[in-house]
Amino acid sequence: MTKTFALKAGVAMPVMGFGTSRLTGNVGAEAVRHALEVGYRLLDTADSYGNHEAVAAGIKSSGVPREEIFLTTKIDGDDHAYKDVLSATKRYLEELNTDYIDLLLIHWPNRAVPVGETLKAMQELKDAGKIRAIGVSNFTRHHLEDTFQTGVEVSVNQVETHPAFNQKDLREFCAEHGIIITAYAPLGRGADLELPLLVELANKYGATAPQIILNWIVSRGMVAIPRSKTPERIKENFESLDFTIEETDLLRIDAFPQGKRIFSGGEFDY
Ligand SMILES: NC(=O)c1ccc[n+]([C@@H]2O[C@H](COP(=O)([O-])OP(=O)(O)OC[C@H]3O[C@@H](n4cnc5c(N)ncnc54)[C@H](OP(=O)(O)O)[C@@H]3O)[C@@H](O)[C@H]2O)c1
Repeated sequence: MTKTFALKAGVAMPVMGFGTSRLTGNVGAEAVRHALEVGYRLLDTADSYGNHEAVAAGIKSSGVPREEIFLTTKIDGDDHAYKDVLSATKRYLEELNTDYIDLLLIHWPNRAVPVGETLKAMQELKDAGKIRAIGVSNFTRHHLEDTFQTGVEVSVNQVETHPAFNQKDLREFCAEHGIIITAYAPLGRGADLELPLLVELANKYGATAPQIILNWIVSRGMVAIPRSKTPERIKENFESLDFTIEETDLLRIDAFPQGKRIFSGGEFDY
């Protein structure tokens, strides 16, 4: 059975998802089909990935019923104005060949449009049954505080999180407010896989370094969305929850020296 976290919106979100950035066309469709066959039930895409149709094709060829899948997509920065949120989401639904999106995220904070305007449109989409939960991505604490003023409930914040960039303060803040964190780039885009501590723990648990990272993320109450185009790795990542890491070892990963964020595609300081 799929392990899930309960979102504030009352929706169950699988803890292990499949990231699809850079997976377009046939390669993307094949990767999505394989991920669903392996057992993933959360798919993470975005308008800016240009792969909504490929994701839809992968879902179709997998034969997995739509209602078993949790689909996340993200609104591009050009579409934050009220009417643009509504028209862009209509297009996403067509591209994804579905009647509803499980989780719609604001992809990056955007100072050009007040967040309340974007969230108002998202709330209307939720009330109309077009989306099931509302979330944000790349939001720092002060961006989240802005959302609290709007009265619209935000269930998820998707942010870069991996052992060398562990978001400790933001995680505590989100936990206080019942916001689930989705850890993107959970493998640090591959950069964290050679860390000696992870190699040591992989040997101890008879696992691999990516599996140790993904298990740590979920053990710390976050959703993980690793991406791979390689069938063996797609399976390896999904199987990362088949063992339990002792708390003393989780604490050692928590204490890992922190580096810089990899992604800085948007603005944080406003
Ligand atoms: N909200 C945002 O702004 C944002 C930003 C970035 C990412 N994301 C989401 O997060 C997802 C994951 O992030 P990401 O794709 O940037 O990075 P990632 O998942 O941390 O790393 C992906 C890289 O790791 C490799 N890899 C995957 N599994 C592996 C394994 N078991 N062993 C060795 N190497 C492995 C992949 O190679 P191969 O493909 O060659 O196997 C790929 O090069 C994205 O796909 C997207 O859905 C969101």
